[in-house]
Amino acid sequence: MNPKEILDTAKALVSDSKGILAMDESNPTCNKRFAALGIPRTAELRLSYREMLITTPGLCESISGAILYDETIRQHLNDGTPFIKAVVDAGIIPGIKVDAGAKNLAGHPGEKISEGLDGLNDRLAEYFKMGLRFAKWRAVIAIGSGIPSQACIEANAHALARYAALCQEAGLVPIVEPEVLMEGDHTIEHCYEVTEEVLHTVFEQLYTQEVKLEGMILKASMVLPGLTCQKQNTVEEVAEATVKCLLRTVPAAVPGIAFLSGGQSAELASERLNSMNVRFKSQIPWALSFSFGRALQQPAIEIWSGNNLNSPVAQKALYHRANCNRAARRGKYNNDMEKNDEK
Ligand code: G3H
Repeated sequence: MNPKEILDTAKALVSDSKGILAMDESNPTCNKRFAALGIPRTAELRLSYREMLITTPGLCESISGAILYDETIRQHLNDGTPFIKAVVDAGIIPGIKVDAGAKNLAGHPGEKISEGLDGLNDRLAEYFKMGLRFAKWRAVIAIGSGIPSQACIEANAHALARYAALCQEAGLVPIVEPEVLMEGDHTIEHCYEVTEEVLHTVFEQLYTQEVKLEGMILKASMVLPGLTCQKQNTVEEVAEATVKCLLRTVPAAVPGIAFLSGGQSAELASERLNSMNVRFKSQIPWALSFSFGRALQQPAIEIWSGNNLNSPVAQKALYHRANCNRAARRGKYNNDMEKNDEK
């Protein structure tokens, strides 16, 4: 391990007001997104789609890193360029999703544990050799009647910390992602309580496993009311609850927190991130950034729709969303940006 390289990569992922493009959907998830738009679910089209994303002109102005999926890193662009090389050539740091998905947690109906620790050491060594410089592991925590249980929170926090320690040993920056899901009718206050407990437990485990906090990124969910909660809070209330929760749980040594979008609309995700940076910039020790999947990709995938003739317009839509979120990082995003004909 070269500790300096890890620290530099972690910093680079959140510097210059840039963020991370999550394009690491597993095949089942990518297929689900394709099916919703009537796009055939083939490896060739998954490649075409991702080639369109990564060759977006000027993407590196707002995007520092891209999280890829194992299938993608073994593919080549239409002109024969290996996919990882194309990412590097685009001025973007290539990363990789390494968890093997969230599976049912034994004895705890409705709860999941992310698998993938077995053999991870060897996989990380291969990924480093291939040129990947950071990794992602996603744990999911559902809110519902009687859940999350302590068992679910602790098992996922432990796995996240073991993954993070293995990454740093292999020379990759770990993105640690404990996602508290939006599904449900819970209030924002309930989400706050759960998120606070989850983050406390995760950082306790990271400390126990001796993970270097300066060499990691936290991928957090915003503190939100459940999707079917009657009271949907304002942008400002979400910003306040989220930052308050993070200030109480995330050590200042962590260089950056990059939010997932989790099913929020693209515009709302930008507005909420903007509000946090406008209102709390002077109080926060870490960069507040983005690592969106759907909130960056959704307009582009709808335009592309499986037809490469649509790629230039789809790329403009991706560029626009990345640019909006870069503005949100600087507290400069506003709704007028959405009206721009150039988008
Ligand atoms: O792990 C989750 C993805 O990297 C982020 O996706 O922004 O669509 O929730 P999302």
